[in-house]
Parts: sequence; structure tokens; C-alpha cells
Amino acid sequence: MGNGNREQWASRFGFILAAAGSAVGLGNIWRFSYVAGDQGGAAFVLIYLIAIILIGYPLMVTEIAIGRKTQQSPIGAFKSLAPDTPWWLTGALGVLAAFVILSFYSVVAGWSLAYTFKAIGGFVPGLDYETIFVEHITDVFAPIFWHALFMILTLLVITAGVVKGIQRWAKILMPMLFVILIALVLRGLTLEGASAGVSFYLSPDFGEITGETFLTALGQAFFTLSLGMGVLITYGSYLPKRENVSDSAGWVIGMDTMVALLAGFAIFPAVFSLGFDPAGGVGLAFITLPAVFAEMPWGGFFGFLFFLLLSIAALTSAFSLLEVVVAWLIDEKGWDRIKASLLVGFIIFLLGLPPTLGYSLLSHVNILGMDILDTYDFISGNILLPLGGLLTSIFAGYVWKSKNVIAEANNPKGKIIFGEWYGYIIQYLLPLAIGAVLIWGIVDTFFLS
Ligand code: PHE
Repeated sequence: MGNGNREQWASRFGFILAAAGSAVGLGNIWRFSYVAGDQGGAAFVLIYLIAIILIGYPLMVTEIAIGRKTQQSPIGAFKSLAPDTPWWLTGALGVLAAFVILSFYSVVAGWSLAYTFKAIGGFVPGLDYETIFVEHITDVFAPIFWHALFMILTLLVITAGVVKGIQRWAKILMPMLFVILIALVLRGLTLEGASAGVSFYLSPDFGEITGETFLTALGQAFFTLSLGMGVLITYGSYLPKRENVSDSAGWVIGMDTMVALLAGFAIFPAVFSLGFDPAGGVGLAFITLPAVFAEMPWGGFFGFLFFLLLSIAALTSAFSLLEVVVAWLIDEKGWDRIKASLLVGFIIFLLGLPPTLGYSLLSHVNILGMDILDTYDFISGNILLPLGGLLTSIFAGYVWKSKNVIAEANNPKGKIIFGEWYGYIIQYLLPLAIGAVLIWGIVDTFFLS
């Protein structure tokens, strides 16, 4: 159902910042630094970069093209390009993924908000930050409070709309994020002994690469670029026809990658310089870094900046997750934006309660060896997103046809020209690579470990 007064980004720049806001998130800072640390540093980073360029970029352009062509959110977009077929289910999978991702994302973002406030009180050397983190997440009420607060902040922006909400706040928050990140990189690199961290981060040890490295790198590429669930279809549907697609996607990828790489430069030198272990796992941001900040000159201030950075990054990603669901209700069901946002926001708040309580009241729940939050993360990141990406690439390559994507990507022509090469990538490389990694990941997780 077309919507006569559908909003549009004011400019290409507005779109790029909003889409980069979606891409840059907990994935670039919290998730990237701990998986890179776990997977041995530079070798992982290299494979991740290859996945971004060969798989992430073509898929991102494909999604934006689908949205821009149809001017619809994901379910409607597939319906309009392939009427009377079940392809709309790909869009529905995206809406489902948005619910699952945002409900645990908001919990981690809530921890980050809480730590921003903790940092104001300063981080004190010698404290046991592991215990402090465990105490925070095993509490019943505090994490619910921060999760609710994060959802309310997200709702304030989404109820204001695409231009007055998302675009406006992306223009304010993204530059802030870059300034903070650069301050943190300068701090990290100027600590005594920082070079050990830099070389961990820059000298690949290919002996460390295993099958899991590839799987993790691809999953990370999907997650960090917000691919495979319709965010870029939705944001692309607000992109004016006069703006080019191929270069815009290049900018989004460039910014996302730059933030991830810079986050590594902010984190690893500091971790090494102060003698901590880079393979700190999920707790790297919340346990290792506070301990690092406690030891460093001006640590309280830089700790505050770091968690503020993490919270801002999470917020602009949360906008896009909520917008996917809200846009569907507006486009397909004719709902009013405010009503749709409030209802969906409340449901996501409720869906976030099990992962929040997974460390306290529900800590006995264990699904295949994972707690509830990890289960949400696993199902969305390792299954729903790659599956969505796989279906989207098959759809674009074989149903809508690559020539139509090429036409949309080059309209109007940008510096990056889409040609026949794209057909090979979308028809063969993407389905094979994503399919193989998906099957491998499922087999590995459920049958081999
Ligand atoms: N890209 C976001 C991040 O890196 C997460 C995200 C995934 C957002 C999927 C939207 C959709 O944190």
C-alpha cells in the first residue's frame, strides 16, 4: 500500500549518517573488540575486512536498491516486486529479527548507560571489576530500569519521525561519536607500552585461523552492517530518487569499518599497556576496560567518554531496529506512527525481560549451554541475519534479477559503477558463501560442540 506522504531523507548526507548510525553500534565496539581479541587479533580482522568488501558491500547495495525501488518497508517491498509469491516472508523474517535483536540489544545498551553513570563516580584501582559487573547484571531491578530507560530514549526519537527524529539525532550524535572515539584513540596510543597492543592488532598470525574464525568474521560482518533484516530496505525506501545508491553504500561501509578499526586502536593498546588479557570475551568492555580505566591517568574521564560512546552508538542502531517494525505497521496496516511506536516499544520492553532476568531470577534457564541473552544473540546474529541475507541474495539474483539491481544502484550514476560483475557476485558468490557458513555454523554449534 503506497503511502502518499511518505517521508524522505532531506539529503544523501542525511541518509548516510542515519544508515551509518544504524551500522555503527555495540557491534563495532563491544562485539568487535571481544571477538577480535578472542580470535587472535589481526588475522581475524583481515578476514573480516574481506567479508565486508566481497559480501557486505554488494548485499548492502542490494537491500538499499530494493527499498528505494519499491518505496516500501521490507514486507511490502517483497510483495510489490514478487506479487502473489511467498517472498514477502523474507521481509517478515526481518521484522521478527528486529524484535529479537532489539530486545537483547537494549539490555546490553542499558548496562552501558548504567556504566556511563558509574564512570562519573570514577573507576578506582584495585577493585574487582568482575564482581562489580556480576553484581550489576544479577540484580533484578537495576538492569530492568536501564533497559526501560534505553527503550524510552529510542521511542522519543522514533515517535518524532524519519526526518525530525532519526535524521536529526543522527546528525547530532554521529559527529559526537567520532570526536569521542578520536579522543580515546589518542589516549590509548599515548600510554606507555601501547605498541604491544598495536602489534597484536596489526600483525596477523595465520596459524590462529580456524573454521570458527571464518564463521565469526562473516557473522560479525552481517551484524555490524545491519544486513539481512530489512534495515537498509527500510532506510533505502526513504532515499530520494535523485540520490545515488552505490556511492552512498560505500560511505556507510567506510564509516562503519573505520569506527570498528579505530575502536580496536582505542582498546588494545590500553589493554596491553596495563597488562590485561585481550581475550577478555563478552566482559572485555564491562570488566577489563573499567579495570584499565582505573589504572590510567584521567581514567575516570576517559571511562565516562567510552561508555557514553557505546551508549550513543547503541542508540542510533536501536532507532533503525524499531523503525523496521514501525514502518511495517504504518505502510501495511495504516497505523499511526505514535501508536505503532508505543505499542512495539512496549512489546520489545517485555521481550527484553527474559534476557535481563537471565542472570538473576531466570539464571537457571540454559538453552544449549547458553544463557537467555546469548540465545537471543545467537538466534538473531548467527541464524536470522545470514538466512535473511541468503534469501535476499537469491531473490535479487534469480527473482527480481541482477539487471534491475544494477539499474537502481547506478541511478543516478555514482563513482562506483555497477556492472555485470555484480550478477556473478549475487547469483553465485553470496548464496554459496552465506549458505556454506550458515550450514557450517549450525552443524558446528548443535552437533559438534
Ligand atoms: N549494526 C548494529 C551494530 O553493529 C546492530 C544491528 C544489527 C542494527 C542489525 C540493526 C540491525 O551494533
